[in-house]
Amino acid sequence: MSGDRRAVPPAVPGAPLLEVEAIDVSYARHGHSPVRAVTGASLTVGPGEVVGLVGESGCGKSTLGRAAVGLVAPSAGQVRYRGRPVEVLARGARPRWLRSLQMVFQDPYASLNPRRRVGRQIADAAALGAGAALDGKASSDRVGELLDRVGLSPGVAQRYPHEFSGGQCQRIAIARALAAQPDCIVADEPISALDASAQAQIANLLAGIAAQSGLGMLFISHDLSVVRKIADRTVVMYFGRVVESGPTAPVWARPAHPYTRALINAVPRAGAGGTLPAELPGDVPDPARPPAGCRFHPRCPEVMDSCRTTDPPGVDIAPGWQSVCLRAQPLPATTTGAGEVPGAAEVAGRPEA
Ligand SMILES: Nc1ncnc2c1ncn2[C@@H]1O[C@H](COP(=O)(O)OP(=O)(O)OP(=O)(O)O)[C@@H](O)[C@H]1O
Ligand code: SF4
Ligand SMILES: [Mg+2]
Repeated sequence: MSGDRRAVPPAVPGAPLLEVEAIDVSYARHGHSPVRAVTGASLTVGPGEVVGLVGESGCGKSTLGRAAVGLVAPSAGQVRYRGRPVEVLARGARPRWLRSLQMVFQDPYASLNPRRRVGRQIADAAALGAGAALDGKASSDRVGELLDRVGLSPGVAQRYPHEFSGGQCQRIAIARALAAQPDCIVADEPISALDASAQAQIANLLAGIAAQSGLGMLFISHDLSVVRKIADRTVVMYFGRVVESGPTAPVWARPAHPYTRALINAVPRAGAGGTLPAELPGDVPDPARPPAGCRFHPRCPEVMDSCRTTDPPGVDIAPGWQSVCLRAQPLPATTTGAGEVPGAAEVAGRPEA
């Protein structure tokens, strides 16, 4: 970690690294009503913490991730990094303290410049992170060190992106993000464009970097099985809202929200690609016309009359674990640990309430 970068202290000492607080994000559409992609969503990412963000295609994961790094502006709520508000600014106008918040995108080929050698692209990011261009030897040493860190030979620095596989390109994109000396990374589907073996390698690489470097990571994926393996906490989104969030092991073992249960039930059969859970009837609703009451009610196997009219509040299942469902009930204080709750198979069909 560079001392230079630490010259900017957090505005709020002790604040989480990344805080997304009750944000709404809408997209204007010509001739149509706006799409409310995210509604009232909140999450936090702490140092060294991997937070998995899951949900079906179109539920707003990327929008939330882009808002979290200041690529899209919320119409309500706030995003804070190190306790300071994150504003949407042009890349060159981003203040130094915000450069330690980095994003890794789904498509590694699209995120790299095809006409520049990969070593040059990593060196550019390193210079940005250091606040000044590094001299030749320092720059090539740093590039070599970063390539080594992501499992590539320093010798590949002279090559162009098209000379690499998708998995190798994603490693290069991660090296470039690390070059900026991040404290926090938002990784938006960083593995979904890769083949199965590269998916596991990249997911483990990112989790290892978070654990070793103490950086926080928001890991966006529609693949709950990967999130289960690498995330400390899981945040589940449905149709623009966060419907459940909590520590991964208990959430997996005893999902409190019917939608989380449906996702977990679908994991062995769903494969990649945001496949709709087989046991859920109906499609994700039209984003311009959200259903009244609970947004999940048209598809919920446990729907009650009140769900059609009442927007459910968040209920604390246990400290740090919340479910947005009218059936949600707090757990007795003695049953909040992952090892003290029944397995997923026992609870998959029924709410605890
Ligand atoms: N630039 C845009 N303009 C208009 N609507 C958009 C735009 N980007 C996203 N949307 C809409 O916002 C909603 C949320 O999209 P978003 O890409 O955030 O979902 P997602 O969960 O990341 O989906 P996926 O898993 O397919 O990546 C969708 O209805 C999508 O069609
Ligand atoms: S509030 Fe009702 S419809 Fe919504 S998830 Fe809970 S039980 Fe299902
Ligand atoms: Mg997305």
